[in-house]
Amino acid sequence: MLIDAKTKRLPGPRSFYGIQNLRGLGQKGMLDFIAQQWQQYGDLFEVQVGPQKLVIVIHPDHIRHITITNAANYEKLKSYDPVRKYIVGDGIITSTGELWKRQRRLMAPFYTPRGVQEFADIMLRDTLTMTERWERLAAERTLVEMFDEMALVTASIVLKAIFSTDSPEDILWIKQSVETMIAYAGSKRINPLQAPDWMPTTDNRNFWNAQRKVHQYIDAVLDARLDMDEWDYPNDLLSKLILAEDTETGERMSRRLLRDEALTNFFAGYETSARSMSYAWYALANNPTVRDRLHEELDRELGDAVPTLDTLKRLPYTLRVIKETLRLFPPAPMYAKDVVDDDVIDGYRIEKGAVMLLCPYFTHRHPDFWENPFSFEPNRHAPEAEKERHSQAYHPFASGQRVCLGNHFSLLETHIMLAILARRFDPELLPTYRARFIGETLLDISNGLPMVLTSRL
Ligand code: HEM
Repeated sequence: MLIDAKTKRLPGPRSFYGIQNLRGLGQKGMLDFIAQQWQQYGDLFEVQVGPQKLVIVIHPDHIRHITITNAANYEKLKSYDPVRKYIVGDGIITSTGELWKRQRRLMAPFYTPRGVQEFADIMLRDTLTMTERWERLAAERTLVEMFDEMALVTASIVLKAIFSTDSPEDILWIKQSVETMIAYAGSKRINPLQAPDWMPTTDNRNFWNAQRKVHQYIDAVLDARLDMDEWDYPNDLLSKLILAEDTETGERMSRRLLRDEALTNFFAGYETSARSMSYAWYALANNPTVRDRLHEELDRELGDAVPTLDTLKRLPYTLRVIKETLRLFPPAPMYAKDVVDDDVIDGYRIEKGAVMLLCPYFTHRHPDFWENPFSFEPNRHAPEAEKERHSQAYHPFASGQRVCLGNHFSLLETHIMLAILARRFDPELLPTYRARFIGETLLDISNGLPMVLTSRL
C-alpha cells in the first residue's frame, strides 16, 4: 500500500533502540507497562522493544479494522514462530493461508454450539469427580491452589474429548509435559538469545524429553486408532479429525497434521478454561452480592439435581458470571498479529513487519465502552445489554475469522463446572491475600491463587 505523506507517526515512548522500553517492561511487567503508557498515549501507540516494533491496540474500532475489515493484512507470521516450532507445528492456531482455511473448514463443525454438546457428558462427569475430591478437602477447610485444581479438571475434560484418555496418571504427565513445552517456547519468545536448541543444556533436555513423550503418546493412540475398523472408532475429536474429508478434494489429513491438530487442541483448550474458572472464583470471593445472587439461582433451579443441557438454559446468571469474568480477567489478555503490508489506521502509519498487540484486557476496561469498568457486574451480559454495546468492545476469544475455535466448548464447559461446583462449594480467599496480576501470553497471578475450600451444603 502507498502511504500518504500526511499520515502521522504513532505516538509512544521514544527509546534508543528500544532499550529503555525493554528495561521498563522488565521492571513493571507487560500489563503495568501498557496500563501506564495507555494513560499517556491513548488507544493506539507504538513501543519499540529491542529490535521489534509493537503496536498496542485497545480501541474497538481498531480491533475491528485488524480482525475484520482489513484482516488479510494482519497474519500470524514470525511472532508465532516459537509456538509453531516448539509446540504445535502446522496446527490451526498458527497455520496460515490455504492450509488454515481448509483446516478451519474441516474443524468448525465439531465446535459449533450444537457440536460441542457431544462433550457435555464428559464435562459433567469430570466435574462430578472433582466434587468428590473437594468434599474431602472442604471437610477440613483445606487450602488449595485454585489454578491447579481447575487445570486438573479442564485437562482431563479436553484429553477425554480429544483422545478418550481415561487414565488419571496419563492425564497428569501429559499436562506436565505440555506445560514444559509451553514454558520453553515462552522463554524462546522472550529471549531468543539462548543456547541453541541442539546444545544439551538442562532446559533443552527437559524440552526434548517432554516433546518426545507427548509425540510418542499421540503416535501410539493414532496407530491404535488407524488399526481399528472405522465403525469401532470412539466418538472423540481424534476420530472426527481422522475421518474429516475436504469437501473440495476429498482428501483426509496427513498423519503429521493429525498429530499437530490434536496437540493444538489440547494446548489451546485446557489452561485458558482453567484460568477462566479460577478467576471466576476470585471474582465471586470478592463480590458477595454477585455470589449470593448466583447461589440463589443455583439453589432455585438446580437444587440437588445434576445439570442437563436443558437446565443450563435456566441458569443465565451463572453464564453471565463466566462472561463477566472473561471481561475483567481475560485468560488471553493480549494476542498478536504481524503486519503483512503498510497500512493506515485512524490517520496513523502502520508499518509492514510491526507486531500488533490486540489487548482485550484493556479494551474490556475502557471507560468509553464500559460503565464503572472495574466493577464486576454479570448483568452487563444480559442479551439487551450485549446488543447495545460496540461489537468489538468484548473480545476475550479474539475476533473475526480467527476467533477462538473452542469458544463454545469453553463456555459450555465452564457453565457446567460453575453450576455444579458453586452449588456445593464456596471457596474463600485468605484475609491477607492480595493478587498481583501479571500477563503476556496468559493472564497470571504472580503469587498464585490459594483459596480455602468450604462446603455450602
Ligand atoms: C476461556 C477459554 C479460552 C479463551 C479465553 C481462548 C482465547 C483464544 C484466543 C484469544 C485466540 C486467538 C489467539 C491468537 O490469535 O493468537 C484463540 C484461538 C484458538 N482457540 Fe481458544 N480460547 C479458549 C478456549 C479454547 C478451547 C477450550 C479450545 C479447544 C478445545 C480452544 C481452541 C482454540 C483454537 C484451535 C484457536 C485457533 C483458531 C484459529 O486460528 O483459527 N480455545 N483462543
